[in-house]
Amino acid sequence: MDFKSAHRACVAPMMQYTDMHDRYLLRLISKNTYLYTEMITTGALIFGKCLDQLDFNKEEHPVAVQLGGSDLNDLIESSKISEGYGYDEINLNVGCPSDRVQKGRFGACLMLEPEHVANCLSEMQNAVTIPVTIKCRLGIDDNDSYEFFENFVSVVKNAGIKNFIIHARNGILSGLSPRQNRMIPPLKYDFVYKLKKDNPDLNIIINGGIKSLEESLEHLDHVDGVMIGRAAYDNPFMLSEFDEHIYGQETKRISKAEIFDEYVSYMTSKESQGYDLSRMVKHLFGLSKGDPHAKAFRKLVLEAIRLKDITPYKSDLRQLLVN
Ligand SMILES: Cc1cc2nc3c(=O)[nH]c(=O)nc-3n(C[C@H](O)[C@H](O)[C@H](O)COP(=O)(O)O)c2cc1C
Repeated sequence: MDFKSAHRACVAPMMQYTDMHDRYLLRLISKNTYLYTEMITTGALIFGKCLDQLDFNKEEHPVAVQLGGSDLNDLIESSKISEGYGYDEINLNVGCPSDRVQKGRFGACLMLEPEHVANCLSEMQNAVTIPVTIKCRLGIDDNDSYEFFENFVSVVKNAGIKNFIIHARNGILSGLSPRQNRMIPPLKYDFVYKLKKDNPDLNIIINGGIKSLEESLEHLDHVDGVMIGRAAYDNPFMLSEFDEHIYGQETKRISKAEIFDEYVSYMTSKESQGYDLSRMVKHLFGLSKGDPHAKAFRKLVLEAIRLKDITPYKSDLRQLLVN
């Protein structure tokens, strides 16, 4: 599949959420949706502090690694390491507004340094053979005009980068927490649509506030791809129709109970390899979203986390799921 077709639907990078286990669960539900790791900082990656974060299952492909950093040499080295690990794409985070990230001079504050971002991305792309992409916002603080956004994109584009994931709201660097920064600045989808119209040669993936297949299909009339974060984590089963309706692939629909069985065998096998069970079990919370017994299901998941054992709850949990 070419880049554009492969990225028609993506699940957003989310720290503490989209780890390798969550991505495995998502992959059981949709075979095509493009997956992203949590952000991994270049420092942690180079000094080998995050090998568990870099780890992925072979079933996860297509899967991109997201890097956080701003030092050119570190980004180049991290890109090479990531390619060596077998990732399909390298994405640079230019959208995270947290204080910690700002202190490291990366994330969203880099939107004020388009030339530096462009240089880093172009050198990263020269260092690897897989695609290098960027995830950014529309602007930062008071820089909220279309002109600011367009200028940022055109500088990066002129360095040869074609693939943009855009969280369609501004980032506010002081005064708002990362959580507020995902809710308070207004979504401006029209900026992203206009960008695609003005730059048909770019691959544009839109992100922010997308909650359903229907909404995704509407966005796809204007841009090349959609990226879904919170909605896909809170209700992973929403992806179950994406292969058919977004990728046009006839696939056998898999029921929630079947997904549950497969994920339980996965957890058993990973636990025997030393992975922490509670970190895997927690991803089950969303599987019962919308079901009449969702509350009871979540309660049992909590119990399994507390006990660090899912075995006693397996059959009750399975029965509570509605397909
Ligand atoms: C818990 C959490 C962690 C996140 N971590 C990252 C991250 O590591 N890298 C990143 O680029 N964005 C991160 N984001 C932002 C999402 O990727 C996405 O841009 C944002 O949630 C808006 O999309 P949504 O409305 O579909 O959730 C995170 C969001 C959440 C909720």
